[in-house]
Amino acid sequence: MEIRAIGCEPLQLKRMHIKDGHTLKVYRETGGYESLKTAMNMAPADIIEEVKKSALRGRGGAGFPTGMKWSFVPKETPKTKYIVCNADESEPGSFKDRYLMERDPHSMIEGMIIAAFALGAKTGYIYTRGEYNYLIDIMDVALDECREAGLIGNNILGSDFSFDLYTHTGAGAYICGEETALLSSLEGYRGHPRMKPPFPAVEGVYASPTVVNNVETFTSIPQIIEMGGIPWRDLGTEKSGGTKLWSVSGHVKKPGVYELPMGYADMEKFIFDDCGGMLRDDKNLKAVIPGGSSVYIMNAGQILGKNVTMDYEGLVTAGSMLGTGGMMVMDSTVDIMESTKNLTEFYKHESCGWCTPCREGTDWLVKIFDRIAAGGGRPEDAQLLLDICDNIEGKSFCPLGDAAAWPIQSAVKQFPEDFRKWLINKTNGNGISANV
Ligand SMILES: Cc1cc2nc3c(=O)[nH]c(=O)nc-3n(C[C@H](O)[C@H](O)[C@H](O)COP(=O)(O)O)c2cc1C
Ligand code: SF4
Repeated sequence: MEIRAIGCEPLQLKRMHIKDGHTLKVYRETGGYESLKTAMNMAPADIIEEVKKSALRGRGGAGFPTGMKWSFVPKETPKTKYIVCNADESEPGSFKDRYLMERDPHSMIEGMIIAAFALGAKTGYIYTRGEYNYLIDIMDVALDECREAGLIGNNILGSDFSFDLYTHTGAGAYICGEETALLSSLEGYRGHPRMKPPFPAVEGVYASPTVVNNVETFTSIPQIIEMGGIPWRDLGTEKSGGTKLWSVSGHVKKPGVYELPMGYADMEKFIFDDCGGMLRDDKNLKAVIPGGSSVYIMNAGQILGKNVTMDYEGLVTAGSMLGTGGMMVMDSTVDIMESTKNLTEFYKHESCGWCTPCREGTDWLVKIFDRIAAGGGRPEDAQLLLDICDNIEGKSFCPLGDAAAWPIQSAVKQFPEDFRKWLINKTNGNGISANV
């Protein structure tokens, strides 16, 4: 398992290999909480301005500009404001946040305290998935250290700024990573998504203004305050600032967590040089899911010789999305019908059941995949899968529905042969007639 930066100095990964990097003592010895002191000498509006200038886009998958999100929080309000860290990390293929929390929890905490100071929040929560219980122990120790050192609680660093921070675990439901479902779960209700608008920045937890950001988003904040927004942005590109963590898994020799400057060129070089190339030398690259399971799958032809730059814009141009940067690499042994079936089972299982297109649609999709895998594929099944996806995409209550449809739509489009061979009509041997 590799954990290293390529093409930049390690920022997110700075303390990954430092002994006891998770402790307050070592964090401070390596520059920790200096950015908080700097921020507390700035006007809150100036902090938000620096974050805007940094072109930091949320690292939880959607890539929404963080500074803009913070600016939506009402300045004058009688309500308590909240900061919530989305540490649910349930996206298949994504495992970067876990390492940040395990080996450098104070970076995220410092980012949250700076956000609280900038936005005037009094209370914060770190929401993790149930399976990350072992991380909660690490976070709780880190919060105790902070409380003792006057970094959270009343009168932080002797000022009149007070902010306290608590951990909270979910029960391991993927939907609880969706920010409004997360807030419902945090309040003790079933984790159903909520209608947007109102967005959480205006009406979030307990119907109060709430900023929800991903772990990696918060760990970027102390760096931005230390370096300044523009220098941090210039580590990456104008529209995709800074550096980004990539969780790499699958058929490469060196899977791991990599930190790359945004706009790293290019994906082929990354896979074949930095990640060591194909796990088995006699196998070719077949497919890459670049951003966690909820993005379009790419075939080798979309990557090899195409100079795909690794940032939000580059991945869209190449026909997919950056998502969480959870990159899954597959070689020629993988049958894409089978891998897509596997993902569809995940989405069916994780559908919260609130709305009909996703609840019923994902169930139908799985039934069709089961029939195909059992040898009963019909020539029209590929088109049937696409038709059901069409009735889910854009017609569901929350983005989980889209996330269930995109892998299938792209798999049928980019790997028609992998479906064609399963859809031979066994009774008349006509072969596929669906539109693939
Ligand atoms: C089904 C679903 C699951 C999600 N899971 C996560 C997650 O585990 N972690 C996360 O940070 N964002 C997740 N998101 C995105 C959040 O809704 C939200 O966009 C994010 O927490 C905002 O933080 P950011 O702006 O820093 O990215 C998920 C979204 C959906 C639709
Ligand atoms: S799209 Fe799926 S997960 Fe989202 S609300 Fe509807 S049923 Fe629930």
